Amino acid sequence: MNILILPDAAAVAARAAGIVARTLQAKPDAVLGLATGGTMQPVYAELVRRHRSGDLSFARAASFNLDEYVGLSRDHPGSYHRAMETALFAQTDFRPHATHLPRGDAPDPMAEAVAYETRITAAGGIDLQLMGIGINGHIGFNEPGSALTSQSRVVPLAPETRAANRRYFDRDADVPTQAITMGIATILSARACLLLATGAAKAQAVATMAMGEIGPACPASALRLHGDGTVLLDPAAAALLDPAIVATMDAAHG
Ligand code: F6R
Repeated sequence: MNILILPDAAAVAARAAGIVARTLQAKPDAVLGLATGGTMQPVYAELVRRHRSGDLSFARAASFNLDEYVGLSRDHPGSYHRAMETALFAQTDFRPHATHLPRGDAPDPMAEAVAYETRITAAGGIDLQLMGIGINGHIGFNEPGSALTSQSRVVPLAPETRAANRRYFDRDADVPTQAITMGIATILSARACLLLATGAAKAQAVATMAMGEIGPACPASALRLHGDGTVLLDPAAAALLDPAIVATMDAAHG
């Protein structure tokens, strides 16, 4: 795991956008794994800016998002489909049929999760998976307790995750209780993984990910098993890391 501490959240977003751009330059038909959430918003803003300036095209790329809420249609204002359309897809040249999220309102969500895993495999797997981290160490919606071997499936959302996402919904009762998420094994099967964390609220989860035990108690710790994992942090998110550990991890992976 390569950990980079950058001067601020804007630098984290710019570096992440640069890694996406390099991936597409090397392989214009790359399959990108995408995430929603506040951490990703500046990354998508930067990708849109690069696209508008003519530097970056998604015309041959495909994408698979990590997750979607069970019960929400793609047009629901709180859905991750809608968030991705607004932040990225509708503002770039992604082909509409090349962007994928699990269908939250599928009649059989478990079957949809299995089909989603199959679609990822059929697309040749993911070249670069972007992700954030939950305050409880989740990646995708793999909450603590998720098996490191898990694949795409229906999961219950932890109370702290529902509380963190309450801001996107009108009422408490509107916050979904379940999601379809890629599993931890699905995420680890991406050829490269890129995790971003900004802000002091993520400091404990980041420290546990990097320095705690590798296991289901902190799903993000599984990234330490990946041969090409990069973590981009701002100083606030990195505040609880032991500097010696950061140096060791950087040295190990160049
Ligand atoms: C979103 C996702 C989540 C978020 C995480 C951090 O698709 O899978 O794991 O990345 O909850 O969310 P923010 O960035 O809003 O703090």
